Formats: sequence, structure tokens, C-alpha cells
Amino acid sequence: MSRIATLILAAGQGTRMKSQLPKVLHPLCGAPLIAYPLQLAAQMKSETTVLVVGHGRDAVQRAVAQCPGGDRVRFAVQTEQRGTGHAVMCALPALKEHDGWMLILSGDVPLLTHRTLQRLQRQMQGSTAPLGFVTFVPGNSAGYGRVVRENDEVRAIVEHRDCTPKQRAIKEANAGTYLIEAAFLRSALKKLRQDNAQNEFFLTDLVAMAAQRGAVPTVQADEAEVHGINDRVDLAQVERVLLSQKAQTLMRNGVTLHDPDTICIHPAVSVGPDTDIGRGVHITGQSRIGAGCHIEPGVLLHDTVVADGARVRAYSVIEGSHIGAGAQVGPMARLRPGSRLGDNAHVGNWVELKNTVMGDNSKASHLAYLGDGDIGDNANIGAGVIFCNYDGYLKHRTTIEEDVFVGSDCQLIAPVTLHRGAYIASGATVTHDVPEDAMAIARARQVNRADMGRLFRERQAAEKALRAAANESPKARRKSTARPKPPAKGKPR
Ligand code: UD1
Ligand code: CA
Repeated sequence: MSRIATLILAAGQGTRMKSQLPKVLHPLCGAPLIAYPLQLAAQMKSETTVLVVGHGRDAVQRAVAQCPGGDRVRFAVQTEQRGTGHAVMCALPALKEHDGWMLILSGDVPLLTHRTLQRLQRQMQGSTAPLGFVTFVPGNSAGYGRVVRENDEVRAIVEHRDCTPKQRAIKEANAGTYLIEAAFLRSALKKLRQDNAQNEFFLTDLVAMAAQRGAVPTVQADEAEVHGINDRVDLAQVERVLLSQKAQTLMRNGVTLHDPDTICIHPAVSVGPDTDIGRGVHITGQSRIGAGCHIEPGVLLHDTVVADGARVRAYSVIEGSHIGAGAQVGPMARLRPGSRLGDNAHVGNWVELKNTVMGDNSKASHLAYLGDGDIGDNANIGAGVIFCNYDGYLKHRTTIEEDVFVGSDCQLIAPVTLHRGAYIASGATVTHDVPEDAMAIARARQVNRADMGRLFRERQAAEKALRAAANESPKARRKSTARPKPPAKGKPR
């Protein structure tokens, strides 16, 4: 088939969504509905793609610009929604130079496949009719246009509200996807009339005109594939279909999914073989998961790369990050955008990273905040360490070279550099760079006072007894707050 231009109808309001957001911008597996027909147009090698917009058109245009290839989409405005035929009329000026085929898609039918359109193309090749379309057999055909046939040949599409009782009993319905010869489309649109129950220009009336020029080809699709989104129930059903399809593809390619109905893996995500994914896991955006990984229950991964053999333990939340081969993260770790773990690195429970790079074999096993840092290989970050990256105005970086040991409960006040092999004693507040192989001790010296522990306990016990006995008279309380005599000074440890 020669050149194809695509026309996507998306001017309708989508009243039944009951939403401020235009219908085609509602997200389906993370992408707006309109991204799906746009992708289909690209797969069909559409030379020109025109989107008919109306309701919420500014928002729709902005969103389309963010979609892959969206910068090349042309827009036609239909200010008043006077029917699908009228929508196509509005788009023709944007397609003046096109003389091949016009593919017409609905903005709200996201699961239609390239394969079905290729089937339709093949059907058209052996036909003299200037139009072909996709049909299906809905479980409940209320609202759909019925495909009226005589001796198997298509005669017309009749909209639900215009059907005779006999036509209403027809099971085969119009899916709203057409391939039409451009010259025929231009002349036939001029003949459309609004003489129907809805007083609109129906694109479907072109079918009867095309049938006079030859047998109109159709291909039948599954209902799930051409399911249109009219309300949020449809949206949820279609999303479930898409997630199930993805899950099945992954399982067939060697990925283990435990209880796949609870797992949400978005279409663009890739997962390598022998990776094991637990219940309730969400993997979204452009994430890529390697082979032989373990993703434990409840993990959220967004726009994240997990290299081969890594393990992400339960309930970790990770966005915009890279996890090296064989690394281990979690349980309950949080990696914010810009985090990058080297091979065999280890990030344990309640550790948060933000925009921090961690070298191979480095570890932060418990309770730490590591923001805006560069950590070399083989470093050990103790429990409770904090990179103090923010001074209230600016963010600063913490640099930790290889083989550094940071003891528990240290604060590193950025900007600061701990050079190779440095050793930071526990409880330090580090404000200055630490030279190679040095030990930094930055805390008050300990003092042990002999007997003071015992004396303190005795005083507190006496006070408590006094209060109970004296029924809390203010006088009694005042007397009892006299301090014990300080004991002799102990030797510091
Ligand atoms: C349409 C078909 C019907 C088919 C059904 C499949 C017509 C007359 N009927 O009915 O045979 O079974 O789709 O889902 O075509 N739109 C505009 N401007 C308008 C009207 C509609 O851009 O003036 C857009 C809508 O935003 C939507 C698409 O066209 O994306 C389909 O319109 P909709 O009103 O949903 O058509 P249906 O009544 O469902
Ligand atoms: Ca519809």
C-alpha cells in the first residue's frame, strides 16, 4: 500500500470521565491515552499525522509535544463537536497535499495493534473498494454502530440510535478504525448529511457510499483490542488487559512472576530471563531489569536500571537510579533520582540516597542519608551516617575516596572530602577534609565521674518517694530539688 497519512480523532469532551483533564490525557500505564494511537501511526510509517483537537486542546497539544515523535504531529481544531464526519472535514486542510491512503483512528482506543492494521491493509490490496474498516463482536453492543451486511457483503454502518429492531440484533459492530483512499474521502465527505438521531455528520455514512464501488473489506478484532475508553471503568479494564499482556510476554520469555495479577510492569520495561519478581512489585517508566535478578515483594522501581544478578529487597522505593551487577538494596531502602550503585555494592535498610554515586563493593548497611555524594570503591559507611548536603541555601557534595571507613553516627558537613583510606571514628562531625590514611576523631572527650551514677539514682529515688508521701505539697517539692554534692572528678577514659 502506498503512502499513508493518519488522522486521529480526539476533539470529544469525554463527559463520562467526569474529569477536568481531557479524556485523551488520562494516563494508561503511565502514558497518556493519546500516546497509543500516535505510536500506532508511527508503526504504520504514517507520513503525516494530524490530530483533531477541541476540548482542552492546549493541554492536549502540550502533552503530545512530550510524546515520542510528537513534535511532528499537526493539529486541526474542531471547535464544535458536530460528529466524527465533521471532525475529519476539519482535518482535511492539514492534509491537502496527501494523495495516498488515510488511516483514521480514535484517540480513545489505545490497545489496537499494528498487526490488525496490517491485516486490514492486506485485505484492501485485493479490493476495488476505496474504504476498509475494523469490526468486532462486543459483549454488549449498546452504543456501537452495527455492520449491516447483505449476502455477507457490507452495505452500511447504522448507528445504535438509528437502528431498526432487526438491525439492533446484529452482533457485529464498528470499531471506529478505517483505511480510506484520500480522493474518495474528500469527495464523499461533501455528500454527508446530518439526517440522523444525533443530528451529526457521521463518518460511518461513508461506508454505504464505498460499498457502491466494490466489496468493502473488513477485519475482525477481539473486543479487548478495540475497547474504547468512555469512563474510568473502561480505563481500569484496559489497563488490566495491558498489564496482563505484558506479564504474559515476560513469563514466556523466562521471567518468574509470583501472583502476576498483583504485579504492575509497564509496557516499555524490559526484564531479563531468570529474574524473579515478587508480589505487589511495580516497575514503571523506562526501567530495564537484567537477568537473574531478584525483585522482592512490594518494591517500586521507576526509570531504573538493575544490572544482572542484583537483588532489590522488599518494599524498597527506587527512582531514576542505576543498580550495579550483583548489588543488593533494601529492604526498605530509598534511592532517589541520580543514584548509581557499583557492582556488588550494598545498601541496607532505611538508607536513603539522592544523586549519589557509590563505587563497587561499597556498603551502607543501615539507617543513613547519603545525598549529593561521590563514594569510591570498597568504602564502608556506618549506621546513622548523614551527608549534610544542604546549608539552607545551597547544596554541596561529599566526596569519599576508595577504602574509606566512616564509623557509625557521623555527620559529614559538605563540601568535604575524605581521602583514600581515611578512617572516621564513630560519632564525628566532620567539617574539614581528612587526608589519606588519617583517622579523624571529632567529638567531645569522654569524662567518667566516680560514683556519680549511684548518687544520681539515689537522689531521684528519694525525690520520687517524697512527692508520693507529701501528696505533692509545693513546699515539699521545693525542698527536695536540692542538688547532690558533685563527687570527686573521675579519670577520663
Ligand atoms: C463511533 C462510531 C460507531 C462505533 C464507535 C466505536 C460514528 C458516527 N460512530 O461512535 O459506529 O461503533 O465509534 O467506538 O463515528 N470525535 C471528534 N469530534 C466529534 C465527535 C467525535 O473528534 O465531533 C472523536 C471523539 O473524541 C472520539 C472519536 O471521535 O475519539 C469517536 O467519537 P465518539 O463520540 O466516541 O463516537 P461513538 O458514538 O462512540
Ligand atoms: Ca466512543
